[in-house]
Amino acid sequence: AEQFDIAVIPGDGIGPEVIAEARRVLDAALAGSSAQISWTEYSLGAGHWLETGETLTEETLEKLKRHSAILFGAVGADPLDTRIPSGIIERELLLGLRFNLDHSVNLRPSQTFPGVSTPLAGEGDFDFVVVREGTEGPYAGNGGQLRRGTPQEIATEVSVNTAHGVRRVVRDAFVRAQARSKKLTLVHKNNVLTYAGDLWTRTTREVAQEFPEVTWDYMHVDAATIHMVTDPQRFDVIVTDNLFGDILTDLAAAITGGIGLAASGSINAEGVYPSMFEPVHGSAPDIAGQQIADPTAAVLSSALMLDNLGLTEAARAVGQAVHAQLTEWAQSGTTGLSTAQRGDAFVAKIKETL
Ligand code: NAD
Ligand code: IPM
Ligand code: MN
Repeated sequence: AEQFDIAVIPGDGIGPEVIAEARRVLDAALAGSSAQISWTEYSLGAGHWLETGETLTEETLEKLKRHSAILFGAVGADPLDTRIPSGIIERELLLGLRFNLDHSVNLRPSQTFPGVSTPLAGEGDFDFVVVREGTEGPYAGNGGQLRRGTPQEIATEVSVNTAHGVRRVVRDAFVRAQARSKKLTLVHKNNVLTYAGDLWTRTTREVAQEFPEVTWDYMHVDAATIHMVTDPQRFDVIVTDNLFGDILTDLAAAITGGIGLAASGSINAEGVYPSMFEPVHGSAPDIAGQQIADPTAAVLSSALMLDNLGLTEAARAVGQAVHAQLTEWAQSGTTGLSTAQRGDAFVAKIKETL
């Protein structure tokens, strides 16, 4: 039987609450399969930093590299906790993992769930995927501060876009478009960000030559936020840079019915390092510890992980169970379930379908 050694990083805030449910759902989905799964939990995040002063050590990184995949909850300190420097956990741990494990493709699917209400006025289901670049752009940490704290202060945050980085994510997006509706939209801001925009647009035009069946278009990111709300059906595969993708995918989550539903995969496209599967949402300090967080995003992220590991049947079982259960709750008007009650229901649904 195939052997998988999964690293679990529950993290901070609601991270451990939603990951507990994802773990139970995964166990249920794999109950009948011959795959051998082992779990190793890593306690990293704000709590670990307070105890040790460490975010992600070289040693931990080396251990993580040996796993088949990583299931990640969420990190981030409560902003009211003044002991923790702003953003240190996010940059050194979360981005540290994405960068060191070369997660070039940040895959963020977005689809409506039949019956689940959305804030959109218009009718109709939609199903698109945002292929967000994961290792470059304004996230590269290339910047600096001059004359900090003076009226002459200058802060820079330079977006890094390499031919290699852009080409590999654009090519990945074309491959996905080819396997879906054969439609791709490049989202950027090439009317203002002319240097990076030129590289992205030129690269897309070039890579498109390899995919004659895929039609592609271009949209400025500001306009994309309009169309995503007024006509989300027009999108199939969106490819975009790291920061635009971050912002667009919170919007995409909101229009499917909420941030608690949005899953993602940080993919090492070359398959050299483990990929990481994580909800799009953060540690939600405003609702942490209350058992009210929606575990759906974490559960669907674990389905993306199963799919990535080649356990497609188990992945499909989780996806179908979640869709069916969300629709049932919507139809019966069920609200107010705890995080664990929602996990219970997903587990029961999976047992029904397997
Ligand atoms: P957030 O996603 O944590 O929360 C935004 C809003 O959505 C909050 O009102 C929250 O209560 C709600 N929400 C989030 N997840 C939910 C869920 N599963 N069910 C129900 N409601 C949910 O974003 P934020 O408030 O901007 O950030 C909080 C912290 O998380 C910050 O420290 C931030 O840096 C960090 N963060 C981490 C990640 C990550 O680990 N992947 C992602 C985003 C933000
Ligand atoms: C996300 C988060 C992260 C990002 C932060 C916490 C670094 O917002 O996963 O969407 O910006 O990528
Ligand atoms: Mn985000």
